[in-house]
Amino acid sequence: MSTLIILPNPDALAQEAAVRFVELAREAIAQRGRFVAALAGGSTPRATYSLLTREPFASDVDWSRVHLFWGDERCVSPDHPKSNYRMARETLLDYVPIPSENVHRIPGELAPTRAAAVYARELTAFLAPRDRFDLVLLGLGEDGHTASLFPGSPVLEERAQVVAAVYAEHLQSWRVTLTLSPINAARHVVFLVSGAAKEKALARVRAGEPLPAGLVRPTRGPLTWLVDRDAAGELATAFDGYEK
Ligand code: 6PG
Repeated sequence: MSTLIILPNPDALAQEAAVRFVELAREAIAQRGRFVAALAGGSTPRATYSLLTREPFASDVDWSRVHLFWGDERCVSPDHPKSNYRMARETLLDYVPIPSENVHRIPGELAPTRAAAVYARELTAFLAPRDRFDLVLLGLGEDGHTASLFPGSPVLEERAQVVAAVYAEHLQSWRVTLTLSPINAARHVVFLVSGAAKEKALARVRAGEPLPAGLVRPTRGPLTWLVDRDAAGELATAFDGYEK
């Protein structure tokens, strides 16, 4: 079951995402004593992460019980402008009292396969034996990719490994990404999609095309699409805020 929620603009999208992040954090901490989330990279989540550092959100989260992972990382150093970790540090981590040991970044500075192995070991040890992400935040690429799961990539078939190193031919660069397994096992998956440039990809995914983002089908929790009106395009006129 997936829910599409159309927000009027990017600010409203960030607000809605921040509200949900806090709600899910409070629920997980109350029920299980911790909140384990995988952050999305790229640029869309910046506004949400920044909102989480300000009231009323910041003091609503017991950051000492929050554990942050990443859905994917570029194979660059953590201070590289393209690093998803750096983006989260600049917008969120530097401004909330989250213990450093609760920040589980992907070591993009290592060789790709080594980075994937190190991250997989950390993630597996942390979620063992039967836990899973409370929340996975995802973005949507114009080609329908999500995390670093790109169209046509063999990693889309990967079921045993929870993390993979992928070479993105079109980007001429290596990435480390969660595979679909831990994403589809999550308690909650939320896509954040903003801007007219994403309209076509969103429509294709919502129409059921087997693009990578369309393969995100959580088996044990809800999937929510938070999109702004520009990204929704035609969807905004036909089914504003409908549940499917
Ligand atoms: C990344 C992300 C990627 C991103 C989409 C959308 O490392 O770039 O994981 O999947 O979420 O490409 O990116 P924007 O939010 O920048 O449009």
